[in-house]
Amino acid sequence: MTTRRPMIAGNWKMYKTCPEAEETAGALVQKISDAAGVDIMIAPPATALTTVSRILRDTPVDLGAQNLFWEDEGAYTGEVSGPMLVSAGCRYVIIGHSERRQYFGETDETVNRKITAALAAGLIPVICVGETESERDADKTFSILDKQMENGLKRLTADAFKPALIAYEPVWAIGTGRTATPEQAQEVHARLRSFLEKRFGAETAEATRILYGGSVKPENISELMALPDIDGALVGGASLKPDTFSEIIHYKSAS
Ligand code: PGA
Repeated sequence: MTTRRPMIAGNWKMYKTCPEAEETAGALVQKISDAAGVDIMIAPPATALTTVSRILRDTPVDLGAQNLFWEDEGAYTGEVSGPMLVSAGCRYVIIGHSERRQYFGETDETVNRKITAALAAGLIPVICVGETESERDADKTFSILDKQMENGLKRLTADAFKPALIAYEPVWAIGTGRTATPEQAQEVHARLRSFLEKRFGAETAEATRILYGGSVKPENISELMALPDIDGALVGGASLKPDTFSEIIHYKSAS
């Protein structure tokens, strides 16, 4: 059986100017220098990527972007490409976050193009899926997630998909203070893993890390991480403060 290395990722969303990002990243690397057995990533806004990249050099914290466009270059005002993110020091890129789907018109089809472009650029995509509250209430959670996975991962081979991570983020739990119960999260993660097994085979399904996201905080990280199919967390609000994010990263010493 594969042991999946835990991953704690911070999504800073549209917070922090360059000086603020520099200060936060600097404080974080001090606090987590003793963290072992866990991959760590922070995704600052695009403007702060190069600044934060300098701070993260030779530390255990990797850099991620929050979005990319699927063409490498061209007349696409306002967009940033995979090779550009790589040149700014990124190793990861978050794709298909529910806020991108909700406010910026992203669909499973654009998510698919972005995943393909990220992998081609050598970036590790963190692919976000999740149902809204009304979809959950209407018992559509599994069918929505199946559709997001099916269409988002279209045409990808198991080999191409291999580096990718999945993040399950129930939309009703993002920034609301409402976390999915451990049972709800585990049930969905197991379902996502069985989807991956059908789609890519047992070996890939077993090796793929599936993160949970939605109001993760120091108080609930340990119980989430104790579940068999939860391999890490994608943290929004609680990743903005170095103290709080460091506590989440050190969940092992707390449990
Ligand atoms: P939250 O955000 O931790 O603030 O709920 C999570 C996310 O949107 O990735």
